[in-house]
Amino acid sequence: MRSGVGDIRDTLGRPVRDLRVSVTDRCNFRCPYCMPAEIYGERYEFLPRADLLTFEEIERLVRRFVELGVTKVRLTGGEPLVRRGLEDLIARLALAPGIRDLTLTTNGYLLAEKAGALKEAGLKRLTVSLDSLDEDVFKAMNGRGFGTGPVLEGIDAAEEVGLTPIKINAVVQRGVNDHTIVDLARRFKGTGHVVRFIEYMDVGNLNGWRLDEVVAAEEIFRAIDAEMPIEPVEANYRGEVARRYRYRDGDGEIGIIASVSKPFCGDCTRARLSTDGKLFTCLFAGTGTDLRGPMRGGAGDDELRDLIAGVWGRRDDRYSEVRTQETRTGAQPRKVEMYQIGG
Ligand code: GTP
Ligand code: 5AD
Ligand code: SF4
Ligand code: SF4
Repeated sequence: MRSGVGDIRDTLGRPVRDLRVSVTDRCNFRCPYCMPAEIYGERYEFLPRADLLTFEEIERLVRRFVELGVTKVRLTGGEPLVRRGLEDLIARLALAPGIRDLTLTTNGYLLAEKAGALKEAGLKRLTVSLDSLDEDVFKAMNGRGFGTGPVLEGIDAAEEVGLTPIKINAVVQRGVNDHTIVDLARRFKGTGHVVRFIEYMDVGNLNGWRLDEVVAAEEIFRAIDAEMPIEPVEANYRGEVARRYRYRDGDGEIGIIASVSKPFCGDCTRARLSTDGKLFTCLFAGTGTDLRGPMRGGAGDDELRDLIAGVWGRRDDRYSEVRTQETRTGAQPRKVEMYQIGG
């Protein structure tokens, strides 16, 4: 066996299985909980092109992660569909051995025009973020005043070309969209798409997160169960983030992601690669380890793999489990922003 190849474990015994790759820090939305428009205005400077990993570089790093145990790769952003030529990256990754699940998370705005090309390139399925079907609520939550039409068309287009099963992610924020979650569930009941409600998290530094804006999983469950009875189902795989529930009438399922009220760090096998090539071992990390510098400086594949294995071997992150009152209010250590590592 070559040096470092094989199954690695962090200090808590967790392997690395899931790699999330941010392909751009840009986005066509300005969701206030992620990229508030007053901060990320017209003149905000996103990363210059030279700082972005090229597709070749991304593929090279992904292959090293696969050698260390990764079997699932999710492309994220910012908004991944605004990165030009994304299909070329998908085509490269679709050919890489060892990746059993190749998927993507998008806000869906450009999906109608891109679904065919994504499928053709080798993407298998995808997840679309859609926080509400109420036009006013949705317009406010994407920060750009866009209606739901293009996103719903995108979902239909993805279904048509077979990018299934489709998951639909909705972040639930009290006083913002919590009154619209039952509608969202109802709209997709019986379609085969799985809506997943996400507890609003304190990611990044800019969204002014407050605990009282979180609608706990239990409350989400009760709201839906009251109208359309649901019951829990076993996880699809160990470490699955969403808890699954099926409609008792057999008409499909939903998921609830209880990252605040019932954290799941114990099974967290996720690594994140930022747009500029830094490895983050937690969604709430303050710093990442630069892989781009060594790669551009001439490091060989073995060296890169050893670097990644070393970082993972030292990993002890369990932020959501140790999140304390101090981190919720008052001075917080600086964290990476969601749009830099894609959630
Ligand atoms: P499937 O592969 O379809 O099961 O999806 P997934 O588990 O990869 O979930 P997805 O990427 O759609 O994640 C849904 C949301 O859950 C993310 O957007 C985050 O908000 C949250 N989430 C995902 N991973 C983590 C994590 O490691 N920690 C925390 N705290 N939240 C996470
Ligand atoms: N809490 C929970 N989910 C979030 N997302 C972005 N910011 C947050 C947050 N603070 C979600 C997006 C998208 C995914 C990439 O992460 O809505 O579904
Ligand atoms: Fe864009 Fe997603 Fe952030 Fe919204 S949550 S601003 S769609 S990256
Ligand atoms: Fe993993 Fe960090 Fe999320 Fe815990 S808080 S599940 S360690 S990414």
